[in-house]
Amino acid sequence: VAPLKVGIAGLGTVGSAVVRLIEQQGRALSARCGRGVRVVAVAARSKTRKRDLDLRGIAWAKDALALANDPDIDCFVELMGGSDDPARSAIEAALKSGKPVVTANKALIAKHGLRLAALAEQHGGALNYEAAVGAAIPVIKTLREGLTGTTINRVYGILNGTCNYILTRMEREGLSFAECLKEAQRLGYAEADPSFDIDGHDTAQKLSILASLAFGTRVAQSSVYVEGISSIAPEDLRAAEELGYRVKLLGVAVRTAKGIEQRVHPTMVPKASSIAQVMGVTNAVTIDGEGIPPITLVGPGAGGAATASAVVADIADVACGIRALPFGRPAEQLLATTKAPMERH
Ligand code: HSE
Repeated sequence: VAPLKVGIAGLGTVGSAVVRLIEQQGRALSARCGRGVRVVAVAARSKTRKRDLDLRGIAWAKDALALANDPDIDCFVELMGGSDDPARSAIEAALKSGKPVVTANKALIAKHGLRLAALAEQHGGALNYEAAVGAAIPVIKTLREGLTGTTINRVYGILNGTCNYILTRMEREGLSFAECLKEAQRLGYAEADPSFDIDGHDTAQKLSILASLAFGTRVAQSSVYVEGISSIAPEDLRAAEELGYRVKLLGVAVRTAKGIEQRVHPTMVPKASSIAQVMGVTNAVTIDGEGIPPITLVGPGAGGAATASAVVADIADVACGIRALPFGRPAEQLLATTKAPMERH
């Protein structure tokens, strides 16, 4: 069988890690899918940036849109980020030509996911976005496929690696907020504009994606109450500790009598609780389902290698011919159950 020919748009921290991982996992992927996976073309803002990658034999497309329209590509992988163009037009072009798309772009999925999912269904393509939430943690698959037989009442957790890393280092080492953020940027955890992380918007985007999957509703990002961690200082963490608490930035989506409530804010959690043990760049997502004890998934939530792990798993699904509905049920149904914004409790 001919190998799956992949085109990757975006060669930053994640894109570069994906090229490396496909190279390393080549044999395992062929054995598993009965078909190889080959990166045949890329597009990136800078061709000359130092990346420590062997790109010999790989073509450079003029831009992401040209790559998405390239008839030699079987699967378009978008790793540029940004909730709108150029990522959005490129993804739309690929989907309109029936190509499967893999993306790690939570901003774009949170804003346009349902419409893009409908496009994928209409043209017989696919839209895979496991890496958009919780990096290496398979939380999208868990909600979309693993728990379809369960009514979910609450999804919550630590969804931003950068914030948890900052809070952990401030608490443990008394470092300033600015020092910790700089380190998170150096390690490739933070967004290009880190205010998305620290103001809580990255968590809100991820939360609204999880809520769509968990509740089958289109809960707009704008209906999430959002408060970030930028005003927290090491002294606040010490004061919480003296009282027996740790501070975590949590995203919570919960079914209430009035509808789905979604909120993101720093929360004092008892030091002995399991969520308080989640340190550093780690993410944790707990799912409360009807009639079963809570399920918690914990793992690396940011960084090139962790995110690449989920992107390559999505590419492997394409190579193996596994095609899940992007949101687990027809998009029309999701749109029909839109909830009004909720007040904060
Ligand atoms: N900036 C994000 C985080 C990257 O820190 O969690 C992973 O989505």
